[in-house]
Amino acid sequence: MRAVRPATCVVAKPHAEGVAPDRAGAQRSRPARTKPLRVLGRLLVSARAAAGSQVAPLLTLPVVRQVRCMQLRRLRPLRDGRQRGIPIVRHYWAEYLERYRNDIHGRCLEIGTTVTLRQYGGKAVSIADAIDLKPHSPEVTVVGDLSRADHLPADRYDCFVNQFTMHVIYDVEAALYHSIRILKPGGVLLVNFPCVDYYFPTGLDMNTGGPLFLHHWFTPIQVEDLLHRVGLASCDYELSIFGNLFARVAYQMNIPATELTENELTYVDPGHPLLVCVRVVKPANWRAARPDYRDPWRPETAPAEWNPTTGHYTG
Ligand SMILES: C[S@@+](CC[C@H](N)C(=O)[O-])C[C@H]1O[C@@H](n2cnc3c(N)ncnc32)[C@H](O)[C@@H]1O
Repeated sequence: MRAVRPATCVVAKPHAEGVAPDRAGAQRSRPARTKPLRVLGRLLVSARAAAGSQVAPLLTLPVVRQVRCMQLRRLRPLRDGRQRGIPIVRHYWAEYLERYRNDIHGRCLEIGTTVTLRQYGGKAVSIADAIDLKPHSPEVTVVGDLSRADHLPADRYDCFVNQFTMHVIYDVEAALYHSIRILKPGGVLLVNFPCVDYYFPTGLDMNTGGPLFLHHWFTPIQVEDLLHRVGLASCDYELSIFGNLFARVAYQMNIPATELTENELTYVDPGHPLLVCVRVVKPANWRAARPDYRDPWRPETAPAEWNPTTGHYTG
């Protein structure tokens, strides 16, 4: 299945214009071995530019896939990280949401937008709220920090779709605690935890009042530990791992999901997870003490800026 989501903020990476010094060095030290591959790569890129969107199906041909893999001996991601097609993590998450589409009904919450609630919940969603740090769009009906959400009433939502955000929240235990507290008993939290992603060295400015930093890359045991810390038992949640070694490499190299084979996408190697997805059903008798809040140290940096039109970052 290749479910489609719009370009979003997780996978596009900043790019540097021109040739980085390390790249130039690599070219000097191994000209005979790297040059033909670079030429092949350039041919592919120019063929793609010449044919425009017509060429997309060509990129899925087995021979072209192999040639693209030869391009993996490189220091920067393909297209310098500019997003193209459906990122592999988005593909996995779309598959996951498809599986639990029926959970998305009634009064629901999402982060930053309500697009996913509307796409998967449709008419079953009676109220769609979005939470974010700043009211950057009319969809943001709840303004605040999820990890400090004491102002939100408990037992309010039937479903909370918390996607691609836990790695940018420093106090992730507090964020998970509130994610569960605000659910009605029996309500469902669908949440994901990225295991690897581009690290924004100077933070990322998404117009939400200050730079966001990638504070965490998660492992499955770390996620389970967090779930137990916030008062859940193993029977209250279901954890799914997506990814394998090649999916991880391909994701970091900026190869879209459509250019992987079904097996490359679906094979799960728990030793090389790319995305951890969790479905929590809030127990009727859920009791958990609010965790002690912890605040991050923040460097003074000029953060990368997100361009919502291109889905790309500079900085
Ligand atoms: C990387 S985006 C992910 C969500 C986005 N809708 C998506 O699907 O890609 C992160 C979003 O979470 C918001 N955010 C980051 N930290 C937050 C926090 N502590 N509380 C609430 N929202 C937060 C950011 O402002 C941004 O809109």
